[in-house]
Amino acid sequence: MGKMNQEVILKVKNLVTAFDTEEGRIRAVENVSFEVKKGQTMGIVGESGCGKSVTALSIMRLLPKPTGMIESGQILFHDNDIATLPAEKMHEIRGYGISMIFQEPMTALNPVHKIGRQLGEVFQLHFPKMNDKEIREKSVEMLQKVGIPEPVQRMDEYQHQISGGMRQRVMIAMALAGEPDILIADEPTTALDVTIQAQILKLMEALQRETGMAIIFITHALGVIAEICDDVLVMYAGTVAEKAPVVELFKDPKHPYTRDLLSSIPRLEGKRKTRLNVIRGMVPSLYELPAGCRYQNRCPYAMQGCEIESPPLKSVGEKHFAGCFLM
Ligand SMILES: Nc1ncnc2c1ncn2[C@@H]1O[C@H](COP(=O)(O)OP(=O)(O)O)[C@@H](O)[C@H]1O
Ligand SMILES: [Mg+2]
Repeated sequence: MGKMNQEVILKVKNLVTAFDTEEGRIRAVENVSFEVKKGQTMGIVGESGCGKSVTALSIMRLLPKPTGMIESGQILFHDNDIATLPAEKMHEIRGYGISMIFQEPMTALNPVHKIGRQLGEVFQLHFPKMNDKEIREKSVEMLQKVGIPEPVQRMDEYQHQISGGMRQRVMIAMALAGEPDILIADEPTTALDVTIQAQILKLMEALQRETGMAIIFITHALGVIAEICDDVLVMYAGTVAEKAPVVELFKDPKHPYTRDLLSSIPRLEGKRKTRLNVIRGMVPSLYELPAGCRYQNRCPYAMQGCEIESPPLKSVGEKHFAGCFLM
C-alpha cells in the first residue's frame, strides 16, 4: 500500500467489452473507467458475473476470439492504447509490462512440464540474454521469494506433486518473473484456505514494496479489499457503481449497492458471528438489461426516474464517485 508514488501508469477510459452470442451481442463491461497508480493497489469488487474478469482479460487482450471484443474505449499504458494495439506488440506487454494471475491456478500450469522449466521459460522470454545457469538461479530465487520451502527440490517437481497453495505461489512467481509494472490478480486466493490466503496477500504486498509494481486486485470479498487496496472500484452488472479511496469507501459508502455489499460482510461481534444480510433480488441478465439503473430492482431507495435513465457517475467527495440519482 504505497502512498508516495502517485504516477498513473494505466488509464482505462470508457471501456466497453462485448461478446457475440447465439442470442445476440451482450455487453459484459459497459463504460468502465479507472486509473491505476504506480506502487498502489486498485481493487475491483462485485458479485460473480459483474464483469471483473472480463475487465482484466480486456486489459490483457486475452478475450476469447472471435466472440469477445473491445467494442470501444481506451486502455492507456505508457504510450500505447492496448485496446487497439497490434497483437505482436501486445505479446511484449504481457509478462513484463502487465501480467496476470488467473482465477483457476490448475488450468494455468502445464501438467507435463516440471515447475522449474515453466518458470524458466518466463525468464528466458523476458531476459533472452540469460544463460541456463542464470535462469535456474533466478528461478530458485523467485520460488524462495514467494515463500516456497525447499525451492531447489520444487524445481524438479510437477504441479500434481505440490499443494494448491504452493501451486498458486508458483503462479505468482511466474507472474512476477518478468518484473511487470502491473500485476493483475484475479481472485487469486478464493480457492485457498484462510491461512494461505493471508500469507499470499502479505507476500504480494511485500513484493510490491520491493519492486513498486501496481496491483489490480480482483475479488468478490470486500473484507480482502479493506486489507490491501488503496482505491476501490465497485462493479455492478458490467458497470461502475462506485469508485473511491478505500478508507472513504468504507467510511462513507454512497451507492446503495455498496452499502448493501458492506452490510453483507460477515463480522465477528463478541464471540458470535452476526447474521449476514443477503441482498434480495437478482442481478439483471445481460440479455435483458432494464432501461435506467441496473440496481433498481434490488435497491431499497429506488424512486421514480430510476427506470428511465441510467445514472451517470457523479463526484460525491474527494476522489469519490457514485452512479446514483440519490446523490
Ligand atoms: N466467453 C463469454 N461469452 C459470452 N459471455 C461471456 C463470456 N465471458 C463472460 N461473459 C459474460 O460476461 C459476464 C461477466 O463475466 P466475468 O467478467 O467473468 O464475471 P466476474 O465478475 O465474475 O469475473 C458474465 O456474466 C457473462 O454473461
Ligand atoms: Mg471472474
